[in-house]
Amino acid sequence: MQRTLSIIKPDAVSRGLAGAVLAMIQDSGLTVVAMKMIHMSKAQAEGFYHVHKARPFFADLTAFMCSGPVVVSILEGDDAIARYRTLMGATNPANAEEGTIRKRYALDIEKNSVHGSDAPETAAFETAYFFSNLEIVG
Ligand code: RTP
Ligand code: MG
Repeated sequence: MQRTLSIIKPDAVSRGLAGAVLAMIQDSGLTVVAMKMIHMSKAQAEGFYHVHKARPFFADLTAFMCSGPVVVSILEGDDAIARYRTLMGATNPANAEEGTIRKRYALDIEKNSVHGSDAPETAAFETAYFFSNLEIVG
């Protein structure tokens, strides 16, 4: 069993798509073991994306991520990190496969509807960034 951190980003929450994205997640067989809606501060978004702080898109990305509410969740399952990355699709929705969340819902390379951890180390950091052990069921 593996856990990964999912964020339904402001572009998707503001369009009323949180339920539809969660349905795709659950239909894929991943189990939600923690979930909440939050509205990040700029500092919280910068802390979450600190690995990208040298990237040219860092200021835009962190401004976008605190522009409205997001739904954060922890997903559990065999190979959950890679399975969720596959379900999300490519970062740029123009390159995303049919049947992926980003192909169906993303607006552009930034407003791409979902985040998923990319490795066991980042999953451990990211799940602990938003959830205490008491908030995780199962
Ligand atoms: P994420 O971390 O959100 O799951 O997305 P990812 O792994 O597919 O992409 P990553 O390279 O980690 O980039 C993080 C997020 O930054 C925004 N981005 N904007 N303007 C740009 O060129 C650009 N590139 C990336 C996206 O919101 C991306 O998901
Ligand atoms: Mg990433």
